[in-house]
Parts: sequence; structure tokens; C-alpha cells
Amino acid sequence: MKKISIIGAGRVGETTALVIAQRCLCREVTLLDVREGAAAGAALDIMQAAAFFGFDTHVNGGSDPALIAGSDLVIVTAGSPRKPGMSRSDVLDINRAVVDGIVDQVLEFTPDALLLIVTNPVDVLTWHAWKRSGWDKSRVFGQAGVLDAARMAHFLARETGRSIKDIHTMVIGGHGDTMVPLLRHSSVHGVSAASLLDHAASTRIIEKTRNGGGEVLTLKKDSSAYNAPAAATATMVDAICHDRKRVLSCVSVLQGEYRQSDITAGVPVILGRNGIEQVIELSLDETEQAGFQRSLDSIRADLKLA
Ligand code: 2OP
Repeated sequence: MKKISIIGAGRVGETTALVIAQRCLCREVTLLDVREGAAAGAALDIMQAAAFFGFDTHVNGGSDPALIAGSDLVIVTAGSPRKPGMSRSDVLDINRAVVDGIVDQVLEFTPDALLLIVTNPVDVLTWHAWKRSGWDKSRVFGQAGVLDAARMAHFLARETGRSIKDIHTMVIGGHGDTMVPLLRHSSVHGVSAASLLDHAASTRIIEKTRNGGGEVLTLKKDSSAYNAPAAATATMVDAICHDRKRVLSCVSVLQGEYRQSDITAGVPVILGRNGIEQVIELSLDETEQAGFQRSLDSIRADLKLA
């Protein structure tokens, strides 16, 4: 991949640029931010670390939307972050306007790119970005499930005492309190996590995962999480850049899959060079299906507000 643009040089955007550069996932990263100097300063700081990390990806930044021309992938992290006590939906109005403006810039300057939405509320904003772009649904998707699954893996490793390297997890639904961590579809060294945990441990993992971002925000008070969100975003970028066909939970437009239409939600997909190449339909038991439905209802309620 030649060029990736990241819109929004806040903590998530800047850290994502650093991780992408460190891993040499493309030749050029462009950071864009409306705040004069913010993106250029972040880019310069990252380039001054190149000698330590030994990367030769070029990171640049600025405020002129024309800088994103020729991008293969545009990542949207710009928007107002939530404050302690706010839900992700509480920043919907302000961030919808931000994302609408960015989609218009993408359409003008780099109409052949893929579009990856990170800004919250990510499920609803991915929907609007897709609608506004008029693109095929494979090209517009959001980051949430990769992060939520990583948080779940952390809590599962803690509960079982096993290495996170041997853990696979899956979280579907919305990126909010109703997300559905799937213990039955998660495993520790190949054994279903559901069979290794008692009820209390299962409940703890599910609750901790759902509140993973909220707990960080409550502790830090003036900043949402950004290290794990950036690493999660870079994981999706890696799958796209290397055409890995990885199975990752991503915010995807559903038109018939899971018997749902006209909605976005986190579901496992095959992610490769062309974006979402296939939605994988898991077989859900009654409880999982009810949880997924509750989560979809919550996304639908937010879609009505926007
Ligand atoms: C998180 O979950 C900010 O949505 C982001 O940390």
C-alpha cells in the first residue's frame, strides 16, 4: 500500500500513525487536522523517532484537505471525545457533522480509497459515512470489535492465568454497553472459553469487556483510551495492506446478513485489500441472539436520533 491518510491528529490518530509507521505498513502516512500545526507537529515528532524504530515510512501532516489526494485508505479519528459519564452516543450530533464534512473531502480528493471510521459513536457514524459516500458497502467500515475483542482477551487471560498469545476472542454488536462478548466463540489454546469458566468469571469478563473503554476514561478523567484503539486500528490496516483475509470483527453494513437490513453492527468479516470481502455469519444460540438483537435495537435507536 502506498499512502494512508489519518483524519484527526488527536491521541488516537497520532498513535495510529506511529504504529503504522513503526510497522512500515505503507510508504506514506498523511495526518490531517483542522487545528493549525497539530498534524504537522505530530508528524514531525513521529519522524524524529524514525531513527530509534528504524522505519522509513514517511509521515507528514497539515490542515489542507488536498493533502489526502491519492490515498489508498482513509482513517477517520477526528471528532469530539466523550467525557467521563458520557456515553459514546452523547457525542453523536457534533461528530456526525465532522464525519459528514470529512466524507465530502474524501469524495473530492481521493474517491478511490477505502474508508475506515474510528470516531464514536462508530456504528452510527459508519452508517452515515457509507450512505453519504454512495460507495459499495465493502469499502466503508468501522473499527470497534477488534478493540473490544482485545480487551476481552486481556480479561480472559487474567481470569484463566493463561498467555494472551493462546487466546482468541470474538465480540459482536454495537460498540457500547450492549456489545456481545461471545465466550462460546472464544477459545483458550483451542478450548472454548465458555467451558473453562464458572458463571461468576464469565460475568466478570463480559462486564469488564463492555466497560473496557469506560473504565480507562473514568481513571484518566481527561482522556479516552488511545493505545489499544490505535493498535486495534493498525491491526485492521495490516490485514488490508497485506491482503491477509483475516477474520476480524468490524463494523459492517448489513443488508440481509444475520437477517438484518439497513443497519451497521460489529460482526466477523474477512478483511483484505478490497476491504470487507465477506461477512461471516456465526451460529448464535438463543441467549447470544437475544443479546445481539438488544444491541441492534440500541444502534437503531441512535440511527433514528442522527
Ligand atoms: C474506546 O472504547 C474510545 O471507543 C473508544 O476506548
